[in-house]
Amino acid sequence: MRFGICTLDDWDVSGRTVLCRVDINQPVDRTTGTLRSTKRIEACVPTVRELADKGARVVLLAHQGSDIEYQNYWSTEPHAEVLRRLLGREVKWIDDVCGPAAREAIQSLGEGEILLLDNVRFLAEEQTLFEKSLKLTHEQQARTLLVRKLAPLADLYVCDAFAAAHRDQPSLCGFEQVLPSAMGRLFEEEYCVISGLMEQPERPCVFVLGGAKVSDAFLMMSSVLEKGAADTILTGGLVGNILLAARGESIGAGSLAFIEKSGYSGLIDTARDLLARYGEKICLPVDGAWAENGRRTEAPLGSIPPEVSLTDIGAATAARYQEIIRGARTVFVNGPMGVFEQADTELGTSRVWDALGDTAAYTVVGGGDSITATAKYGKTAQIDYICTGGGALIRFLTGEELPVVRALRQAAEKWGAGQ
Ligand code: 3PG
Repeated sequence: MRFGICTLDDWDVSGRTVLCRVDINQPVDRTTGTLRSTKRIEACVPTVRELADKGARVVLLAHQGSDIEYQNYWSTEPHAEVLRRLLGREVKWIDDVCGPAAREAIQSLGEGEILLLDNVRFLAEEQTLFEKSLKLTHEQQARTLLVRKLAPLADLYVCDAFAAAHRDQPSLCGFEQVLPSAMGRLFEEEYCVISGLMEQPERPCVFVLGGAKVSDAFLMMSSVLEKGAADTILTGGLVGNILLAARGESIGAGSLAFIEKSGYSGLIDTARDLLARYGEKICLPVDGAWAENGRRTEAPLGSIPPEVSLTDIGAATAARYQEIIRGARTVFVNGPMGVFEQADTELGTSRVWDALGDTAAYTVVGGGDSITATAKYGKTAQIDYICTGGGALIRFLTGEELPVVRALRQAAEKWGAGQ
């Protein structure tokens, strides 16, 4: 037991059916349907291997989102193929989550066999929009279809999805109500490293927030600033664009249309409020970049052409961010500075990652896209800790108890350890 949560050392899994929730949500190349990174899949291998080696019947539950949050869900079939390769053993896959086909496949699993179910977010009750609108308690989550159909087939629930520990959804918080539960090895490691680090982060402590998953970013920005966890926040990506719009800067009609199309117009008011309260701690881009006729084009704020869509920070912003990162003692990063997958809009991200590579600060990078960027710019060896969680990491840093941690602790109180 660690942190009041059972670990894999507390339960004998041999011959038992274990429902194991992993986070193997990866960036997907939408044109080819293939995974652009396999880092999160690699990270859950120790837990899956340990369970199978100990003779458990392993049922993996996972979600797969898309680059833009809450849209375009993909199947987990490509993930099964990657797992097979990494584990060097068979991983069954079924295009069902908790229907009759999935249940039959679970019941016919032998000891040491592994089955990956399809994307749990094909069920409405697993979607974040559903979570945020209905706010089911953990007891209510235990009565959802997923938990009612799968829990009776299982002996133990294991959560290895630290990267999704900030989500309050049935596959993450419902099973703990009805099954003895434990955290997996990856969850244990990430939770342990990050809590140790947060006891006393060396100052100045700088957060770098970018990417396209902005609703979490705004919630977290406000919380880390209020609690004093961050001394400075550097912003880029869609987060930066929304803040610039809130300050009344002209960021191009394309950028505004993208914010609107993604359903984030309401965040402009949130951003305005945030700037009014903590403006001196939030760094906004001073210039922006976009692709025009296949070429990178940049302009300082005030001279951004009216029709463009900003997809990177400019070189002057990148230089300023590099200086701040090099002068920091602790740096947490979640999200790239722009569309770094394309050569003409990767400069901001690549320069920020250069600074992460050579700063003396303790550096922590979290989240799917940030991990992909770390690999792309060859900085894996220079970053002090790479966490699979992006949103979960930042939410953890706000000091809030994560929903999954709360559920796992309650399960430990209810069932104790070991049976
Ligand atoms: C993440 O990528 O941060 C986790 O996998 C959680 O994904 P979500 O934001 O789609 O819930």
